[in-house]
Amino acid sequence: MLKGNFPIKEFEGIRTPFYYYDLALLRRTLDTVRDIFRENPEYRLHYAVKANSNPRILRTIASYGFGADCVSGGEIRAALDAGFKPSKIVFAGVGKSDEEINLGLDAGIARFNVESAAELEVIDELAGKKGIVAPVSLRVNPDIGAHTHANITTGLAENKFGINYEQLPSVLELTLKLQNVKFLGVHYHIGSQILDMEDFAALCNRANYVSESLAKAGVAPGDINLGGGLGIDYHHPNHLDIADFKAYFDTFKRFLKTTPGQLVHFELGRAIVAPCGSLISRVLYVKEGISRQFAIIDGSMTELIRPALYKAYHRVENISSDEPEEIYDVVGPVCESSDVFAKGVSLDKCRRGDFIAIRSAGAYGESMASGYNCHPLPGSYFNE
Ligand code: LLP
Repeated sequence: MLKGNFPIKEFEGIRTPFYYYDLALLRRTLDTVRDIFRENPEYRLHYAVKANSNPRILRTIASYGFGADCVSGGEIRAALDAGFKPSKIVFAGVGKSDEEINLGLDAGIARFNVESAAELEVIDELAGKKGIVAPVSLRVNPDIGAHTHANITTGLAENKFGINYEQLPSVLELTLKLQNVKFLGVHYHIGSQILDMEDFAALCNRANYVSESLAKAGVAPGDINLGGGLGIDYHHPNHLDIADFKAYFDTFKRFLKTTPGQLVHFELGRAIVAPCGSLISRVLYVKEGISRQFAIIDGSMTELIRPALYKAYHRVENISSDEPEEIYDVVGPVCESSDVFAKGVSLDKCRRGDFIAIRSAGAYGESMASGYNCHPLPGSYFNE
């Protein structure tokens, strides 16, 4: 079995659990996107910082000249610290606080992706107090159900995100009337871990419809932001280590209608960083249950909550052992019965001290870690 290329010798001296990032893979991923963008000069990427805000990951992405999609003041600060230019930072989120809006205004970020009329009025007021005009896009809820986990769809009318698209004309009217905001674009995001390109084609159709209605009203947004959402293959991390960016961007090329000079923004997170990260932990105990055996590891839902929260699949590998496989439930030490990484999986025989890699954990892993049970936050280790 191919186990990936882990520098196990170097892991010996590191306190587990920790995140291991393959920066070479991250660069190959970013090169792939950059090459596609060279052929499509109207495309812009604002990397979704929420997927992974580790400073070294952010610096690597910033070094490519890409922008950042932030959802809090903390993320804006992290992006600025990592070298993202303010003119390439966009700020989304349904609940931006006054403090966060002021931070964005003071930093001179590129765009506030506004999610309600109420928020628009606050941005207008705060910008007015500073004597400046805030650049805004309106986030439209396209009411499209993506084929993904119910907890990570965001584009349905029942979700809290965006402006219902029937209410768009009235919010647009307000935007054009207010003195301290400038309408620059329309923003969408339908969900995450989407592998069916039909979902993105449906988003294009909805975006085309909105663009046509705006054109009829004499409004021409300078850009269209399609959000993120491209999924990765969690089952085959070695075989398919770069997401299918070609299929994704080809779908927009084929179905999205734009006007000359209009820019097309994307906010990918997972597809950029998920494959390059693994959570590395050690086997503490092998415990014989009545009908199953447990590999109890020192990593837990506090470092990687996705399996507990969404029943998400991550491939688990014993990267120390080469002994015949046995069947295990791989569990962490947290006092919650949902603290399980995998049930009934086949792993090379586990012994105390073996390194266990939980793969494809570069997105929504470290960034969602918590201190529950007084666990320290995980460290990170890079292959260069
Ligand atoms: N843009 C907006 C407005 C978003 O809300 C998101 C993700 C993205 C971009 C980036 O989406 P991506 O390309 O990563 O799919 N914690 C969940 C995922 C939550 C995604 C939230 N929004 C998980 O672990 O699966």
